[in-house]
Amino acid sequence: MLTSVPRGTKDILPNTVHEWLYLENKIRQLCAVYGFEEIRTPVFEHTELFLRGIGETTDVVEKEMYTFSDRSGRSITLRPENTASVVRAYLQNKLYADGNITKLFYIGSMFRYDKPQAGRYREFHQFGVEALGEQNPMVDAEVISLAADLLTELGLKDILLKINSVGCPKCRPVYREKLQAFFRNKLDQLCKDCQSRFDRNPLRILDCKNPHCKEIAADAPKITDCLCDECAEHFSQLQKYLTTVGIKFILDPQLVRGLDYYTKTAFEFKYTPLGAQSAVLGGGRYDGLVEECGGNPTPAVGFATGLERLLLALETQKLLPAKENNCDIFFVALGEKSRQTTFKWLQQLRRQKVTALMDYSDHSMKSQMKHANKTKAKYAVILGDDELNKKVAIVRNMLDSQQMEIPFDTLIEKLIFEVNK
Ligand code: HAM
Repeated sequence: MLTSVPRGTKDILPNTVHEWLYLENKIRQLCAVYGFEEIRTPVFEHTELFLRGIGETTDVVEKEMYTFSDRSGRSITLRPENTASVVRAYLQNKLYADGNITKLFYIGSMFRYDKPQAGRYREFHQFGVEALGEQNPMVDAEVISLAADLLTELGLKDILLKINSVGCPKCRPVYREKLQAFFRNKLDQLCKDCQSRFDRNPLRILDCKNPHCKEIAADAPKITDCLCDECAEHFSQLQKYLTTVGIKFILDPQLVRGLDYYTKTAFEFKYTPLGAQSAVLGGGRYDGLVEECGGNPTPAVGFATGLERLLLALETQKLLPAKENNCDIFFVALGEKSRQTTFKWLQQLRRQKVTALMDYSDHSMKSQMKHANKTKAKYAVILGDDELNKKVAIVRNMLDSQQMEIPFDTLIEKLIFEVNK
């Protein structure tokens, strides 16, 4: 227990942190280009926010939330996603004050009591964007373009974009009834989960992973045939804008998302080799959520991507950068007096932004050189009693093993020159 992490969580170790930084840098550069600003919200919120925001009959709320009472008896939940939190922050901090579109992005950990497997964790990380305050389908196309640009820039191949419209509170009830009429006499053939979805949330039947339910749902009426004029127009405009900017997509009338707040546009980017975890990125429009959370009616659209899944896809396609060696100088000191001298040089170099390390132990020359090799240092600087007496240090180029003796008074200057060459 004491030496293992809780199920579904993992350490991100020093040998992979550079992969996360690589991804996060690409994300930040792209968000800047698109005019999205970073927001950081708390990792936990009042439970009520997610019950209202995500929907009480969703799997996330019913089965996956980490909810507990704090010491004052308040019900607190570790955020299972960040859209509801961003909407809360938008309202609380009046980020709508200038009346324009508000474009926000976030990177952070989310928590869901999911069944852990490759690409599915209980603590996972999302990058997401939210554009609040504009109903124009051009904004839907903008966030989809941002997602597509990220995946393209990372070099990912074989990614599919699926889009759908899930309608609005005006046309969805009509579709809901049609769907119930279709499934009513097939209920006993559906899985237990779908049977309970029938009354509470029949659209979710379309998203069931059970192959038998899938087969039955294949002939279900299509939501895109039931859209009201406004939703149909929005969907057709979105397709036009995506085509204008050269983004390929597939229409998938069965695409419904796992959270209840979606209206009109729903989309997912899939990387099929990840199997059950093929959804690398998903999002859509949520025009009713701000009002549901107590604000004025405010249209909004966004997406989130699971960074673990993205990294898995990048790893499969061998697109992750190698870890860079950044040690310039390694000091090998023999004896206390030499150590004291090299410690002074070590700090002088670091203050000049030269990456320098040393072995503080009393180990043999051989063992310290081994240490130097392990750090992949460009140069080893060796100092023993003889060199101390002669006031020179041995500088060894670790690539070609060439050595030279450099007098103390020019050593630091020479080392700075060599590493910046
Ligand atoms: P979501 O589809 O629930 O949407 O999650 C978005 C992405 O998070 C998924 O496509 C997947 O890559 C990743 N993800 C979800 N659960 C896990 C897990 N257990 N382990 C690893 N990765 C996971 C949302 O969260 C919405 N808030 C997206 C959104 C933003 N819609 C509008 N704005």
